[in-house]
Amino acid sequence: MHADILFRGGNIIDGTGAPRQSVDLAVTDDRIVATGDLSRWTAGRVIDCTGRIVAPGFIDPHVHHDEVVLTDPGMDCMLSQGVTTIINGNCGFSIAPLTATGPLPQPLGMVLSDDMPRFASYAAYRDRLRADPPAVNSACLIGHGTLRINEVADLDRPADRAETAAMVRALDRALSEGGIGLSTGPFYPPARAATTQELIEMARVAQAHGRLYVTHMRDEGDQVIEALEETFQIGRDACCGVHVSHHKCAGLANHGLSETTLAMIDQARKLQDVGLDTTPWTASSTMLNSGRHRQASRVIVAESVPYPEMAGRDLSDIAAEWGTDIDSAMERLLPATGIFFIMDETDVRRILAYEHTIICSDGIARGSHPHPRVWGTFPRVLGHYVRDTGVFDLETGIKRMTSMPADRFGLQDRGRIAKGMYADLVVFDAASIREGNDYTHPTRPAEGIDLVFVNGRESWCAGGHTGARAGAVL
Ligand code: ZN
Ligand code: CU
Repeated sequence: MHADILFRGGNIIDGTGAPRQSVDLAVTDDRIVATGDLSRWTAGRVIDCTGRIVAPGFIDPHVHHDEVVLTDPGMDCMLSQGVTTIINGNCGFSIAPLTATGPLPQPLGMVLSDDMPRFASYAAYRDRLRADPPAVNSACLIGHGTLRINEVADLDRPADRAETAAMVRALDRALSEGGIGLSTGPFYPPARAATTQELIEMARVAQAHGRLYVTHMRDEGDQVIEALEETFQIGRDACCGVHVSHHKCAGLANHGLSETTLAMIDQARKLQDVGLDTTPWTASSTMLNSGRHRQASRVIVAESVPYPEMAGRDLSDIAAEWGTDIDSAMERLLPATGIFFIMDETDVRRILAYEHTIICSDGIARGSHPHPRVWGTFPRVLGHYVRDTGVFDLETGIKRMTSMPADRFGLQDRGRIAKGMYADLVVFDAASIREGNDYTHPTRPAEGIDLVFVNGRESWCAGGHTGARAGAVL
C-alpha cells in the first residue's frame, strides 16, 4: 500500500479521550487513510514521529478572527499553537451579514475595520474565503448584535415586531447559506436592550436549522446566576441547545461562585442541552468602557485607536502620567480594548476540570498588544494545566480541543484521528509544549509544536509557516 505521507513511530492520541497508542498513520490527499501497523506501506514522504504525540489539529470554537482570516490569512497565531479549525462570529458579533453603513458601534468596530469591504450576505463572505483561503479551516456563527445593527432603528430599546421579523428572516437566510449557529451578546451595548423574548425568537430560528444558541451572557459578574437562568430559559422556550461562551465568574466579590454555576449547569443538563467553553487565564479581555475595570485588580491596555503607543501599559500608570483619574484616562483612550485581571485561579481550574468544558481562546488578534490567549491558549492547557498542574490527563485535554468541539458544533469528519477523517494534524512534544508568551510579550509563538497539517498540507514546521493556505470554509 502507498500513501502520500506516513507518520511513523509516534504516539497517537485520537481525540476521543482513549489512551495513546504507538501506531503509524497514513495520509493521502486531504484525508487520513489508515492507522495501525503500517510497516509494509510506502509513501512519498515519511515523517519520523518517535517520542512525539500525534493528535487531531485543535479546534478553537470561540475567536473573533472574522476579518483577520482575510487580512492576515497566514493565521500564525492559531497554527503556531496547533489550531487547525476556528469558529468566528462570537459574542453576538459576526462580520456578515452586514448591511449597515457608517461607523460601527463597539465591540463590532473592534473586530472590523472601517476601510474593509462589508459583506451584505453570509454567502458573499463565504465565497470570498473560498476564493482566497486562510491557513486554517473556519466556520462562522451569525451574530444577533450584527443583525440588530442592521435592522433595529434605535439600539437602546427592544426590537419591535417588524424589526424582529427582519432579524428572523436575515438569520434564517444566513444559516441557510452556511452559518453554523447563532451567537448573542446581551452583555454588549448594541444588544443590551434586547429582551429575553427577542433572544428566544432568534433561538427558534437556530433550532429550526438544528443549530446552537451560543452566548456571551448578559452578565458574567454579580448577576451571573440570573444570566445563566436567562440562558436556560431561552433554551427551554425555543427547544434549542444553548452554549455558554468563555464561562467565568468575574469580579472579586464573585470569586468561588463557579461551584454554584457549574452545579446549575449540571442540574439544567438533566432537562435540556447545555454546553460551555472557557479560556485558561485569570485575565479576561474585552472593550474598555464595559464597567469591567471597576471589578479588576489590574487593567492593561491592549489596543487604543487614538493612542496606539499606550498598548501594553497599565491603565493606572497612564492615568498617573496624564494626571487624571482612571475613568477619564479610559475615556481618552476610547475606542480601546483592555486586559482585565478579574478571575480567581481556583474558579479557572474548577471550570476547566468540569467534564463538559471545551477549551477556547476567545482571541481578538487586533493591535500590537493582545491578550496572550490569542497565541498561547492551547499549549498553556497542555503544558501548565495538564503536565504541570494535573487538572486532567493529556488524552482528556486533547479531547476537549478536538472531538468535543467538533461534536458540539457539528463539524463533520474533524476532531478525531480515524480512517476517513480530514488530515488536520498536530505533532508535538508532550514534555516541552507550553505557551511561549506572557502578558509582557504576548505575540511569541508557543514551544514544543513540531508540525501542523491542515487538510493534508504541511502548514507549520519548526516554528515557521510553510506558506500553505489550505483552510476550508466549514
Ligand atoms: Zn464574549
Ligand atoms: Cu468572544
